Amino acid sequence: MKQEQIQELIKRALEAREKSYSPYSHYRVGAALLCKDGQIYTGCNIENAAYTPTNCAERTAFFKAVSEGKREFLAIAIVGGGEQVDSYVTPCGVCRQVMKEFCRNDFAIYAAKTPEDYKEFTLMELLPESFGPENLD
Ligand code: THU
Repeated sequence: MKQEQIQELIKRALEAREKSYSPYSHYRVGAALLCKDGQIYTGCNIENAAYTPTNCAERTAFFKAVSEGKREFLAIAIVGGGEQVDSYVTPCGVCRQVMKEFCRNDFAIYAAKTPEDYKEFTLMELLPESFGPENLD
């Protein structure tokens, strides 16, 4: 992906983080998901007093996109932290499995601190030997 596109995606993730509903962990996460048609869906983490219903930023973005009919994705940018975004946030196991449902190995995962400072991963790196739709063919 082009540098400007990556930076734009990270900026959208940083904006989405502002909407984080995280009164329990105070850990605010934002994500921006780029569809193959160029559209971007953003998401934040949404916590719950019962804890387990909490939804991660990545899944919020995916579920928004899929519920609007999107099925093909190019990349996701993720930012998170307490007061500041001071470390790289890689997706939790559940979010990796949700990515596996819709993404192949051409999908790029950007764990970012700033639009200029990020690490890039493939799904194969983050979820090797995974179980996916092909197992049920
Ligand atoms: N969280 C995310 O939204 N994405 C991640 O990749 C890691 C964790 C959220 C879930 C919870 O609201 C908070 O961060 C602390 O785990």
